[in-house]
Amino acid sequence: MNCGFPKDFLWGVATASAQVEGAAFEDGKKATIWDAFCRLPGAIRDGNVMDVTCDQYHLYEKDIALMKELGVKSYRFSFSWARILPDGTGKVNEKGLDYYRRLIRCLKENGIVPNATMYHWDLPYALQLKGGWGNRDSVKWFTEYADVLLENFGRDIDLWVTFNEPIATWVGYGLGSFAPGLRDEKYARQALHNLLVSHGEAVKLFRAKKLANARLGIVVDVWKHYPARPGNNEDEAMALAANEIAGFGWFLHPLFLGGYSEELTEYMKKNGFTPEILEGDFATISQPVDFYGLNFYNGLYDNADEARRIRELEASGGNYQERPEQHPEAIYDVLHMLVEKYRIKVPIYVTENGYIQLDEDNGTKEDFLEDPERIAYLTEVIRSIRRAIADGIDVRGYYVWSLLDNFEWNAGYTMRYGLYHTDFGTLERTPKKSAGWYRNVIENNGLDV
Ligand code: NOJ
Repeated sequence: MNCGFPKDFLWGVATASAQVEGAAFEDGKKATIWDAFCRLPGAIRDGNVMDVTCDQYHLYEKDIALMKELGVKSYRFSFSWARILPDGTGKVNEKGLDYYRRLIRCLKENGIVPNATMYHWDLPYALQLKGGWGNRDSVKWFTEYADVLLENFGRDIDLWVTFNEPIATWVGYGLGSFAPGLRDEKYARQALHNLLVSHGEAVKLFRAKKLANARLGIVVDVWKHYPARPGNNEDEAMALAANEIAGFGWFLHPLFLGGYSEELTEYMKKNGFTPEILEGDFATISQPVDFYGLNFYNGLYDNADEARRIRELEASGGNYQERPEQHPEAIYDVLHMLVEKYRIKVPIYVTENGYIQLDEDNGTKEDFLEDPERIAYLTEVIRSIRRAIADGIDVRGYYVWSLLDNFEWNAGYTMRYGLYHTDFGTLERTPKKSAGWYRNVIENNGLDV
């Protein structure tokens, strides 16, 4: 049946090392910034650590069997830097490499295309002690790590991603709510600049290796903000700042258009946050990639009055926990923006899209297994992608976040994104309604029309 998706469309599921692997200190792996951050009192909503999570390190065959059950064509996962280079640089941990060899072999035996991310937020702690991403040496550290990955797995991975969602490093270095928990905007702007240069250097390295069939890209999440009241100056300014100064424009502009945007350049200058930029940095950052990975979760409407109300509520000790309005259809506009504003000409993969179930809305396991809201949300996203493809936008794949409930960063286990429910006590995986629904989508190559 042709449901509007290209014949070889890659339907997949996504996870990340720190969120699913567990085995945090096993077989030579050392601590990451997240292993350390989890241990700070109050850092993680439910006080949990990432030592076991879903234990995919031991249960990967089981998880690949679940993927087989879903019929997915591709699995997006990430390498743990500290499992491969426990000190960040220097001695390579053979046991770490061996784990990924087994994982990749098992995926291939099951006909599942590996899509692998080099960095999904879990910097080796040893490198944080040297300043982490804020240290310009991070470019060398990352290139050394990328070299180890490409030497060992270069030809086995079809789709390589250098970085997943650079913005997380802003949350970690600027806002303090992610690892390593720093609140220093000047340092954070430098860290993100170094990270972007590291990306560019990894692209150059990748090209030099001439790996037949392997392609490489980067994943930038787009939470596009719109003014809730178009024409209202305050709302317009809020949305612009959210997009350009602390959002996707910060990365997409230097990656695809060259240099930081005018708005961001002005802002950094005015506030003394301009990072040290070496000659040639922008050319390095904008090295052509083979594809772009879009993580899409929602479109947001900014209302300045509402924002004031929330700030006042929080200042008086209240807790703002409302689920924002859901705008799955915004992905259609986002895809157009990528092509029209950022002139992205390479194929696009939707590398993540998912729907949260919150602990406070759901009680028992049985409640979590019923997830019609997730099905409705993902359906609307897929429908919108199909419209964009019909307009001629080259979208080649779609990955649900996530295969299974896992460790949701500073929210710990209080937010569940999985198609499979994970019991974090017994590690049992149980399909939710959405798993059966997704199996159908894949089987039909899209939604029934
Ligand atoms: C973005 C991240 O890449 C992933 O790690 C996270 O769990 C999901 N989105 C959901 O927040």
